[in-house]
Amino acid sequence: MKISIKTCMILGFVSIVVIVFITTLLLSSQVLDTKNLFAISNLLVLLIFIVFSLILSLIITRLITFPLKKIDKSMKNVANGKIVDTKHLRNFTKFSELEETIDSYDLMMEMIKKNNFDLNSQQSKTEIILEHMADGVIAFSITKQVVHMNKSAQRLLQIDNAYDTFDKIIKKLNCDLDFDKIMYLPNYKSVEIKIAVDENALNIIFIPFFSNRLSPMGVIMIVRNITETVKLDDMRKEFVANVSHELKTPLTSIKGYSETIMNGDLTYQEIVRFSKVINQEANRMGRLVADLLQLSRFDYKKVSWKKMMFSLDEMAQNVCEKMQFSAREKNHKLECIINVKPPNIYADRDSIEQVLVNIVSNSIKYTPEGGAIKVYVGSINNDNAYVKIIDNGIGIPQKDLNRIFERFYRVDKARSRKMGGTGLGLSIVKEIIDGNNGTINIKSEINQGTEVSITFPTK
Ligand SMILES: Nc1ncnc2c1ncn2[C@@H]1O[C@H](COP(=O)(O)OP(=O)(O)OP(=O)(O)O)[C@@H](O)[C@H]1O
Ligand SMILES: [Mg+2]
Repeated sequence: MKISIKTCMILGFVSIVVIVFITTLLLSSQVLDTKNLFAISNLLVLLIFIVFSLILSLIITRLITFPLKKIDKSMKNVANGKIVDTKHLRNFTKFSELEETIDSYDLMMEMIKKNNFDLNSQQSKTEIILEHMADGVIAFSITKQVVHMNKSAQRLLQIDNAYDTFDKIIKKLNCDLDFDKIMYLPNYKSVEIKIAVDENALNIIFIPFFSNRLSPMGVIMIVRNITETVKLDDMRKEFVANVSHELKTPLTSIKGYSETIMNGDLTYQEIVRFSKVINQEANRMGRLVADLLQLSRFDYKKVSWKKMMFSLDEMAQNVCEKMQFSAREKNHKLECIINVKPPNIYADRDSIEQVLVNIVSNSIKYTPEGGAIKVYVGSINNDNAYVKIIDNGIGIPQKDLNRIFERFYRVDKARSRKMGGTGLGLSIVKEIIDGNNGTINIKSEINQGTEVSITFPTK
């Protein structure tokens, strides 16, 4: 049964009034005369009443303070981040007013629990995002301590948890930055630096962050890997430089020879010779522009492959026949050998022919006079069809092998240019092979020769 504190107070008040009343009665009847037995019994009653009042007040005090202490302890737990169940508190109170306090306390706990849940789910969401971000993120407190560092930051900067302060990290990165200058940047701007860590080019941004009241809280460091962008940018610059250079060389020749012809005073033979050079250089420019256009069509996915079934061995034989003339010019022996007749392949016929012509012409170009060039055709388990073009030419150094498919990449620029090469042949080959689900592999040994293997699926 619950009673109100008010009732308790009234009870206490009534008991005091009763005590005072009885005491007055006893005094007025001179009960304090010890010879009077009646008076002694009255004195005893008075004492009992006093003791009773004392006990009653002790009980009431305890009934009020005990649940209050419990509530106070629970509140301290809540302040320390613990969620407290309030059910047990109800067992400690007998007062309706305290029940109401516990109800309010319950309501507050419900709100805290809900807010805590929202906060936790928000926090775990943020943590998951931060952990799975490709960019590195480090948060520093105002005392320069690391308060958060994601895995990407550790990987990109090659640091671990031992790097727990701004100074340690900045020292490792070998850059000159002042934390306070970042913290108190005018207009809350950011500081951006570019550094290299191992093979990676990194773009690092430092941004100060603030509380709601705009007081500084710390600095966020964002680390972005820009290696690919830098590489692409370099490639673009190199490409533009290459195209300009490749066009400038024949243009200079055309301009020079045509001016010489225009100036007169030349024999007929000289005019014919110079006109031939002009024609050759114009052809070279035409080839270059055609190659560039083809590559740009690949880049913009404007190529529509006309795929059909055809026999790779027949095509290889045709290409060998076509190329016999240029092979003979350099006294090469060019042979086509069918190891096993492969099943037909499904690909763009004209493009695959362009691939074979390109590779055989490379073998002819980069093999010194009197070389041997062999074109093998076959199949492994009837699952695929392969062509292997093997020469015994100058070969390609190992260090150049993985760059050989890059646009304009030539092992020996001067030599290749002298032979009329633009350095675009193998990049076109690679695009065609990829577009027809094939694979290409190049093995080479310097001064021993080169083997180019091309494979197409047949199923
Ligand atoms: N069979 C080979 N033997 C030796 N080096 C080769 C061979 N094939 C290619 N190379 C090297 O690879 C480079 C790139 O070849 P690619 O066919 O792309 O260009 P290119 O022959 O120079 O010019 P293009 O083919 O555009 O006329 C060549 O410049 C050459 O240095
Ligand atoms: Mg070539």
